[in-house]
Amino acid sequence: MKTALVTGGSRGLGKAIVLQLVKDHGFNVLINFTANEKAAKETLAEVEALGGTGETIQFNVENKQQVGDAMTTWEKENPKEYISLVVNNAGITRDGLFMWMEEKDWDDVINVSAKGFFNVTQRLISKMLRKRAGKVVNVASLSGMKGVPGQTNYSAAKGAMIAATKALAQEVGKRGITVNAVAPGFIHSDMTSDLNEDELKKMVPLNRFGQAEEVAHLVSFLASDKANYITGEVININGGIYS
Ligand SMILES: NC(=O)c1ccc[n+]([C@@H]2O[C@H](COP(=O)([O-])OP(=O)(O)OC[C@H]3O[C@@H](n4cnc5c(N)ncnc54)[C@H](OP(=O)(O)O)[C@@H]3O)[C@@H](O)[C@H]2O)c1
Repeated sequence: MKTALVTGGSRGLGKAIVLQLVKDHGFNVLINFTANEKAAKETLAEVEALGGTGETIQFNVENKQQVGDAMTTWEKENPKEYISLVVNNAGITRDGLFMWMEEKDWDDVINVSAKGFFNVTQRLISKMLRKRAGKVVNVASLSGMKGVPGQTNYSAAKGAMIAATKALAQEVGKRGITVNAVAPGFIHSDMTSDLNEDELKKMVPLNRFGQAEEVAHLVSFLASDKANYITGEVININGGIYS
C-alpha cells in the first residue's frame, strides 16, 4: 500500500490534502499533528468514512529527535512499507514589523517551516533513494515568493523552503524522486481566520480567498504519476495576486 505523510495534516490545508490523497490515489495517510489530537482524530475519521486507511502521528517537526522516534516506531510496526510521499505542510505565522520582531518569533517560524522540512525530509529521503522512487511536496507561500511586509520571518522561512526545493530536486532527480512546492496566497483556514477578507480580497484579481481543497487538488496532482516529469518547481496558487 502506498503511504503518505502529511505534516500538520490535522487541520486546514493539511487536512484537505490528506482527504484528497485518499480520494484521488488511495494513499494510506499518516496524519501528523503537534498539539491538536482531537482535530487529527476527526480527520482520520473522515479518511475512514471515505473507505481509506491511515493513522494519526504526533511529533513536533521542529524536533529532530521526535521526528526520528516517530518514524522509527512506524517503520518497526510496518516493516514492509515505506513512505513514498511526504507533504511538508506544517507551518505557523508570528507576524509583526521586523523592527520590533522578537527573536523567538523569528526562530519559531523558521524552525517549523525550514528546520521542519530538514528534519522530516532528511529522515525519509534515504529510503526513497534506496527505493529509487518518491515524491516530496512542500507547502511554501506567496510570502516566500514575493516577500510580505509584516512577515519577514515567514517570508524568510518559506523562501528557504523554496530554495531547498530547487536544490534537493537536483540532488535526487537521478534516482527518480521529484521535489516540488506550492505557493498559496490567501486561503481560508484557522491561520487566516483573523484577517479582514473584505479588505484583502480587493488585492486578489479573482476577488476572493482560496479554499483549502483548491490547494489540495494541486498537491494531489504533484503527488501523482501525471506529474512525474515536473521537479524543482514552485507553483503559485493565489488567485492571480502574484506570478
Ligand atoms: N492559510 C493560508 O492562507 C496559507 C497561505 C500560504 C501558505 N500556507 C501554509 O500552508 C500550511 C498550512 O497552513 P494552514 O493555513 O492550514 O494552517 P493551520 O490551519 O494553522 O494548521 C496548521 C497545521 O500545522 C500543524 N503544525 C503547526 N506547528 C507544527 C509543528 N511544530 N509540528 C507539527 N505540526 C505543526 C498544526 O497541528 P495542530 O493541529 O496539532 O496544531 C496544524 O495541523 C502552512 O505551512 C502555511 O504556512 C497557508
